[in-house]
Amino acid sequence: MIIDCDPGHDDAMALVVAARHADLVAVTTVAGNAPITATTRNARIMLDMLGIDVPLHQGAHQPLVAPARHAPDVHGSSGLDGADLPEPSRPADSEHAVDFIIETCRATEGVWLVPIGPLTNIAHVLQVAPDIGQRIAGISLMGGGTFGNVTPTAEFNIWADPEAAQIVFSYGGKLVMSGLDVTHELQATPERIAKIRSHQGQLATVLADLLVFFSDGYMRFHLNMEGGAVHDPCAVMALTHPELFIITPERVKIETAGDRTRGMTVIDRRGHRKPAPSNCDVVWNVDDEAAFDVLIEAIGYFSK
Ligand code: RIB
Ligand code: CA
Repeated sequence: MIIDCDPGHDDAMALVVAARHADLVAVTTVAGNAPITATTRNARIMLDMLGIDVPLHQGAHQPLVAPARHAPDVHGSSGLDGADLPEPSRPADSEHAVDFIIETCRATEGVWLVPIGPLTNIAHVLQVAPDIGQRIAGISLMGGGTFGNVTPTAEFNIWADPEAAQIVFSYGGKLVMSGLDVTHELQATPERIAKIRSHQGQLATVLADLLVFFSDGYMRFHLNMEGGAVHDPCAVMALTHPELFIITPERVKIETAGDRTRGMTVIDRRGHRKPAPSNCDVVWNVDDEAAFDVLIEAIGYFSK
């Protein structure tokens, strides 16, 4: 799989579980939680702390049409506030993530694209090289849902670049969507953060500190939550640990025009006997205890 990310506290967790359980072909970055220079720096730091040497390519500075907008209130101005981070030791391998993804997917069939930030890079890939849509195994993304977090209807990754999301949701190939319905079930509770902190070494300490920062922000905004929703690992584990999830085929379209609904994933759940063909497998629920144990074990694996 290629992880396309905007680290991002939960992106950092997704990189750990992908490095542990997937054949992580490469990491690409996109502007989202923070500007592209910050998300790329954060990805460099995470790969250093994991001690893995996978290609890292920087991608889009801004969405296809929308202005670049970030989430400093959730992730801080650096995109990874809340921990004492090391300086990155390595540069990105290029600033051409889109070209890299196209070349890699033309050279190797069956790659999963796992975007966990705005879908700008993936949309560029599908626009520049439509043949990629038939060569990849599919796209497993974090985004959308039956409710929003930026607006009542729009989740950040879709809201940040709805035009890109429309391209991705209509590409015609395998699509798996982990939206807020499932990701809000995967919470970084204090007990779970304590288990992470029980591992030795810098990675565990940094991730525990990051999750404390991330969760504090969530608790300030949300009722009925015991910790930050660790969104992005769901897009990875829906592929590596599908048995932990409830997933159904649905018909999902992207709203790009609504005054109050731009960036909404419109899921058709009218229950017709002859529904329109499904274009997206929607991930609804997770065995959160088992899934968080996967995260904790993966952190321990890289903490030895
Ligand atoms: O809405 C949550 C998503 O937006 C996550 O991917 C988080 O990292 C941010 O990018
Ligand atoms: Ca993200």
